Amino acid sequence: MDLAQLATPALVLDRRLLLANSQRMADRLGRFGVPLRPHVKTVKSAAVLHAAFGRLPKAITVSTLAEAEYFFAAGIADILYAVGIAPAKLEAVANLMAAGADIKIILDSMEAAHLTAERGRALGVRFKVVIEIDCDGHRAGLKPGDPTIVEVGRLLDGDAGTILAGVMTHAGASYDCRSEAALIAMAEQERAAVVTAAAALKAAGLVCPIVSMGSTPTALFAQHLDGITEVRTGVYLFQDLVMAGIGVCRPEDIALSVLVTVIGHNKEKGWIVTDGGWMALSRDRGTATQPVDQGYGLVCDLAGRIIPGLRVDAANQEHGIIAATGGASFDRARFPIGARLRVIPNHACATGAQHKAYRVIDGGLDVIATWERMGGW
Ligand SMILES: Cc1ncc(COP(=O)(O)O)c(C=O)c1O
Repeated sequence: MDLAQLATPALVLDRRLLLANSQRMADRLGRFGVPLRPHVKTVKSAAVLHAAFGRLPKAITVSTLAEAEYFFAAGIADILYAVGIAPAKLEAVANLMAAGADIKIILDSMEAAHLTAERGRALGVRFKVVIEIDCDGHRAGLKPGDPTIVEVGRLLDGDAGTILAGVMTHAGASYDCRSEAALIAMAEQERAAVVTAAAALKAAGLVCPIVSMGSTPTALFAQHLDGITEVRTGVYLFQDLVMAGIGVCRPEDIALSVLVTVIGHNKEKGWIVTDGGWMALSRDRGTATQPVDQGYGLVCDLAGRIIPGLRVDAANQEHGIIAATGGASFDRARFPIGARLRVIPNHACATGAQHKAYRVIDGGLDVIATWERMGGW
């Protein structure tokens, strides 16, 4: 089977690029001697993780309980569930612990700490809790200098329902950086924030074994990682156009694409119409706010070579509209009905989530494997 025979639309993963992206991060972090706790929200597949690392990693980050359950069943016990815990999910966390998972949860308030501790006592478990630190005003967490960090730490440390496991932060604002200098500064801001929070806990006589940071842009641009015990990166394994727009990778490094078929032409409007709509590409328009707006994705030939001057300009549920960027003209005869193209996505996590499996290639056109993806919550 090769890409010319697959039913479309289909999610294509180039194993060769996956391995190169994995190696690049390993080299980068190896330089600082800091271990990686990959975020599996991007790949959502044990087969992809196994291929990327040559074995399943010992420690991972997850964004859903479903990921925690799936990867624990696949054999990974050390799991950080890095989305603020909802009280109703604590019983499922306790069940995973009872089954042998070393799962850590995160929270960022006294209210959540109280609720978690109470629930832990009621369930007869001690939840391992990592305090979330806000390094950039992006989303959630306590500011590094906030005395609440120590208050929360004391509560978690002293309660029979919880264990203080450390601090973590995520520089989501790194996605808005527009220069190498800004990325370097953001990496240091992220590092300093979480190290400062850890120091406050330690100064109060508390332990702080985990000092965790990570996003793909900051991990690849950090100049040092002093005081950090682990880095969590996810999208780097595939990379995407948002990362390319930030300057974190090149479009040619992107391991993920969506195989589509030309289904018609709108001659009046100068469009190529394909069967790859937003259901296959996702509605993510992450590059819309970047200096170069890539529409719904860049267009490649079947071999994955980018066709200059084209992009998916618009998307309906099952229709993709390919047009020339800036209204330039192109020879539609090069793309007859039935021709196959590949679209590289804005946001790999969002595009992947539209599909149930990866069709794996190894640099060529042959499909060497099909790897299932999990989903849900
Ligand atoms: C809490 C947390 N940690 C780590 C990551 C990984 O970031 P990236 O995909 O940029 O590597 C994310 C991504 O959203 C995240 O939300």
